[in-house]
Amino acid sequence: MAENANALVGDTASLSINIQGRDEMVIVTARGAARELSRELGFGIVDQTRVATAISEIIRNVVQYASEGEVQFRVIEENGQPGLEMVVVDQGPGIADVERVLRGGYSTGNGFGRGISGARTLMDDFELQSEVGRGTRVWMRKWLR
Ligand SMILES: Nc1ncnc2c1ncn2[C@@H]1O[C@H](COP(=O)(O)OP(=O)(O)O)[C@@H](O)[C@H]1O
Ligand SMILES: [Mg+2]
Repeated sequence: MAENANALVGDTASLSINIQGRDEMVIVTARGAARELSRELGFGIVDQTRVATAISEIIRNVVQYASEGEVQFRVIEENGQPGLEMVVVDQGPGIADVERVLRGGYSTGNGFGRGISGARTLMDDFELQSEVGRGTRVWMRKWLR
């Protein structure tokens, strides 16, 4: 497992996907990429699903609320521990009340407001930065254990 992960670390293990327009197909593509990368890294089926679900929710938000952005996947290693890093950046309207969105249960769409708070609990590291009128950046990591 560790050997497999080491082979993946580096430039060849990074992948980026453009998000453009309201086409939800990109959710399926990113979900597949997340699952594939985490499987190759040695994640079990449960963690593969956690990672795939988290990225689905964050990309669904870009499609729904921003419609222009990019997701970047990177296989990383810190202190000998491999992990998967996913960064989603958009140039949408941004989020005015980040605290409220992180708490969950708040939606300006017709959702449950559980996408971001859910993704946060599924990942090990999670950071959301947003600026109204400029866009949003979500940074998440999951470690192999
Ligand atoms: N990328 C984004 N750009 C702008 N607003 C966003 C973005 N992602 C989330 N939001 C805002 O945060 C709210 C909560 O998002 P989320 O937790 O995914 O729940 P839901 O999508 O069900 O509303 C959304 O209703 C929306 O107002
Ligand atoms: Mg959502």
